[in-house]
Amino acid sequence: MTRPVTRTQVGIVGAGPAGLMLAHLLHRAGVDSVAVDSRSRTEIEQTHRAGILERDSVRLLVDSGVSDRVLREGYQHEGIALRFNGVSHRIDFEKLVGSSVWLYPQTDVFMDLADARARDGGDVRFGVTDTRVVDTTGDRPGILCTDADGLEQEIRCDILVGADGSRSMTRHEIPDRRQYYREYPFAWFGILCEAPPSAPELIYTRSERGFALISQRTDAIQRMYFQCPPDEQVEDWSSDRIWEELQSRVAGEDGFQLKEGRILEKSVLPFRSFVCEPMRYGNLLLAGDAAHTVPPTGAKGLNLALADVRVLAEVLQQVIVEGRREALDDYTSRALNRVWKAQHFSYWMTTMLHASDDAGEFDVRRQLGELETLTGSEHGAAYLAEAYTGWPHG
Ligand code: DHB
Repeated sequence: MTRPVTRTQVGIVGAGPAGLMLAHLLHRAGVDSVAVDSRSRTEIEQTHRAGILERDSVRLLVDSGVSDRVLREGYQHEGIALRFNGVSHRIDFEKLVGSSVWLYPQTDVFMDLADARARDGGDVRFGVTDTRVVDTTGDRPGILCTDADGLEQEIRCDILVGADGSRSMTRHEIPDRRQYYREYPFAWFGILCEAPPSAPELIYTRSERGFALISQRTDAIQRMYFQCPPDEQVEDWSSDRIWEELQSRVAGEDGFQLKEGRILEKSVLPFRSFVCEPMRYGNLLLAGDAAHTVPPTGAKGLNLALADVRVLAEVLQQVIVEGRREALDDYTSRALNRVWKAQHFSYWMTTMLHASDDAGEFDVRRQLGELETLTGSEHGAAYLAEAYTGWPHG
């Protein structure tokens, strides 16, 4: 039996936020695409990821017509608190750089994008298996897979995009790639709980027991994280132990206490910095986590993926609509410029706020000196505010 062949202009491996946003932007530029993903839509919707959108990520969602739900149901935050030595210091984004961020979880971004693709009649295939890409340097590259009904499928296109996440299979098609890594001696223990917010804005805390982040989801559901060893076992943590740990990390002379509630979900999040270079080989281009991952401190992962895709949509429009193939040559350098700035920011936020077992007294005092420098100086705080709210897109 011969398998059915679908012809399209762009074949996208990965239908998470990066793949779907790309498909959406291409559709608006008159370029058609097919996106495939090994996960089901429900599986993607049930994966908890970060919750902060940079200003230009929000603009991209709204201005490109994906949805304005972020403006109605998200929460605009004009600052964060940095807490150390038991005292909170507010970083006022609006005052420092005239910008802000929105608390709006990645799962909601995904749902908005999946709905927009469905509304516009996009071809998105979830739950495929045995995905392979072929002929990445030829003129008819393709994706071979088995669809959710068990039928073999072939998708032939002009350009292939790998938006298949940190465990990317497409990345391995780039033969002479360089990979840059940084491993960290810790991870995050994350919880979702049923409680009112403990504070109006996010709190990033450094304590002697390690880092903690007090984030939010809604008026009734909160998201919190605390630094833990990479091999931490979720089962070893009862609710009482989790609350005791979180409370001790935020405790201080101001008597601040978290509002506790039933824990709905707990998990350990991996932690590493990674960049693959180049992000293109022949007719294959990578976007988002497939090409780079950042540690979660500062919530840059999704924002970087959306920034990649904005550049990539522009490049593909030049190639496909205007016939300017040379535009492909600039993709890596245009995308990596922002990637390395975000790598630095995420690394810096991480090392400034986490406790490390091999840190000596000098390191601890230097770290506190760094936090004092930052919170005591408008110039220092403005760098954090600018990077956190996001460098303007293009
Ligand atoms: C969240 C996650 C982050 O890594 C961060 O820096 C801020 C917020 C979150 O999940 O809410």
